[in-house]
This record gives sequence, structure tokens and C-alpha cells, in this order.
Amino acid sequence: MDFFDREQESEDLWRLFAKDNNVLMLAPRRIGKTMLLHKLADESEEQGFRGVVVDVEGYGEEKDFFQQLCSSIQEEIGAGRSLISTFTSRLKQAIHGDDTIKDWRQLLLHTDWQRFAETLLGTLNEPGDGKPLLIMVDELPIFIMALLRQHGTERAKSFLYWLRNMQQRYRAVRWLYTGSIGLDAVARREGMEGALVDMEIYPLQPFSAETARNFVQHLCVKDRCRIDDKALVAIMDGLGWLSPYYLDKIVSDACAQAGKTAMVTPEVAERSLEAMLDKSKRVYWSPWREHLDKNFPEPERTHLYTALEVIAADPTGAHRDTIIMTLNRGGEQVTGRDLSFLLDTLITDGYVAPCEGQPGRYRFVMNLLRLWWLRYVTCES
Ligand SMILES: Nc1ncnc2c1ncn2[C@@H]1O[C@H](COP(=O)(O)OP(=O)(O)OP(=O)(O)O)[C@@H](O)[C@H]1O
Ligand SMILES: [Mg+2]
Repeated sequence: MDFFDREQESEDLWRLFAKDNNVLMLAPRRIGKTMLLHKLADESEEQGFRGVVVDVEGYGEEKDFFQQLCSSIQEEIGAGRSLISTFTSRLKQAIHGDDTIKDWRQLLLHTDWQRFAETLLGTLNEPGDGKPLLIMVDELPIFIMALLRQHGTERAKSFLYWLRNMQQRYRAVRWLYTGSIGLDAVARREGMEGALVDMEIYPLQPFSAETARNFVQHLCVKDRCRIDDKALVAIMDGLGWLSPYYLDKIVSDACAQAGKTAMVTPEVAERSLEAMLDKSKRVYWSPWREHLDKNFPEPERTHLYTALEVIAADPTGAHRDTIIMTLNRGGEQVTGRDLSFLLDTLITDGYVAPCEGQPGRYRFVMNLLRLWWLRYVTCES
């Protein structure tokens, strides 16, 4: 898969890093966060940095976090091996441990994570060649949620505050956190938003209409197809949210359906949009459902499902009064404040958006997702 565009975004982000900012980039599922991180890692040398991507999804202990960081540095960046070897000698000295232990992984077993991590960051803060390290942590919010669930709020909170302290102390190391859960909303709810105050928030948007048009044309050329302008508009309107992932899926289906004519007409485009709702396309949509199942505990999870069910029922959306009535139908006691938090979550995580000019009303962001939800999710839940 060729990486398309995101030039403005990477320019914006490099400008922020050059001005010593640390960045929190939050965006919904499947929008291209991880691919953008890898683009930044590729560009980092020419931008005067050393970029490393660390994926912390699936881990729930602080030690795992730093184990992943060390491995990524060692494997991904040119000077990584020598940096890690300097760090290993320093850590050995610091803990006066058994001299037979040579490897940082073993040292990690014999020390607490704070000492391990401070020695690591202290080493990374002294770039021999003057190139600061940019640590890009993918799915930090999922890691924080795992800490929270397994060890409680205090532990998650101290980890976030600890990261903030490290950012203040070791200024030659830059951080970019990304993920598909609204970490800012979670931090607000758990009373730990102070840990994020120094971060520059950068929301990653879907493609603009112009970029989406160019992307669709580019995909068609690759598939040796042409596309009618009306068909292009039908695809963009039908999707309603210009995520490169879904544009790619629809266009490759359309080019396949165009067959020998090699022309995507509006009829072909409509058929491809409809085909996205076929049960066989489950895997395209499952991240949205999994996101709720994996990351939200009960009763919040069921409340989120109920709110989405109400909002999906009408293409023009639903009013918060209707949502709260439905939520409380079975004797629940969901307050207006709880509902605001639920809606905040659904907005930051990319499911719904406020309807313009209609206060208190919310609609699905992506029309195809709304149709999928109606067809498969609401009838099952
Ligand atoms: N700039 C791009 N150019 C071309 N395709 C892209 C681009 N960004 C994303 N995609 C497509 O979207 C898919 C998802 O991208 P990516 O994994 O980066 O998204 P994500 O936001 O990290 O998703 P998740 O929330 O599931 O982790 C990619 O596999 C690719 O097909
Ligand atoms: Mg990702």
C-alpha cells in the first residue's frame, strides 16, 4: 500500500517538534495514525531527529512499556545498539547488581521500572550527534486504560505524571503519543488531566475533499480504471467521512466491478457502497465494535451501545433528551453529566458528531458505519 499525502500534517508536526513541543495526536480508528507515525520515523533523519515508533497496545505493566521502548530503539534506529549498550553499562553501575548479568532485559527483571526508565531517558537525553530522539508511542491510551483496569486509577495516574516529569527533566527527548481513545476525556474523568497540560493537542483529521479526490484518482490509475466525476462524488458522499482506509476499500471494489469497461460509473459506485455492507466485509467494520468491547467497562459499554443505537436509528441524528430517556428506560440512573461524558467519548473516538445548528442533537459521522450498525450491531445487542 502506497502512503498518500499527509504532507501538511507531517509539516505541522515537525514544526511543533522543532519548537520543543510534545504532542498528543488523537484520532478515531482507521484514520491512518500508525502509518503517519512510520512516515515521521522515515523522515526523522532529514528533519534532524531520530524517530522511533513504540506500539504499547496489548501491554498492561510499566516494565512492558520500557521493554518495548528499548527493543524499538535497539532495532529501529541506526545508533540504537550503541545507545542501548551505553545505557546497559550505566544501569549496571547504578544498581550495583550481579556482574554476570549483561543484558538489559535481565537487568529489567532485577530493578524497579522507575530506575530503569530514568537511566534510559538520561542516556537518550544526551544525543552524541546532536539529533534529539523522538519517541512516538502508538496506542498510549489503550495502555493507560489497561493500567487503570488492572491496577487502579492511582497507578495509571502516577505513570502519566511520571511521564510528564520525564518530559520536563529530559528536554532533548521529544514525545508523540497517539491512539484512538480520547485520552484527554479519560484523563478528565479520572482526575489526571494535569498530566497532559504540557502536551500540544493535534487532532488528525480524515482526508480533505481535495485530497480524497486525488487519492481516489490515484487508486483508479493504479487499478487501470477511470472514474466518472459523479461516481467520485457518490463515493465521497456515501462514505461521509473521508478515511483513506474506507476510500481504498470502496475504490478497489468499484474497479473490480467495473470489469472490462474499466470505468467506474455512478451505478458501479452505488453497488460498491452497498457491497461494503455485505456480511463478508465484517472485518472492515469490526474495529469500531471491538473498540467499545475492549476499552470500556460495564455499565459504560452498554450505555455507549444504547446511545449509538438511538443515534443510528435516524439519519438526521438524535437529541440528547431522547438518548437519556432510552438509557434510563430500564430503571438506570444515567445523569445529564454521565450522558455528556458518553457523548464526549463517542465524539472524540469518531463515532458521532454534533449536528450543526441544532444544539443537543448528534448524528453518525460516517454514513456507511451508521448503516452497518443498524444492519448488524443493533439487532444483536
Ligand atoms: N495516508 C494514507 N495513504 C494511503 N492509505 C492510508 C493512509 N492512511 C491510512 N491508510 C489506509 O488505512 C489503513 C489504516 O491505517 P492505520 O493503521 O495507520 O490507521 P490507524 O488510525 O492507526 O488505525 P487503528 O485505529 O485501527 O490503529 C492502512 O492500512 C491503509 O490501508
Ligand atoms: Mg493504529
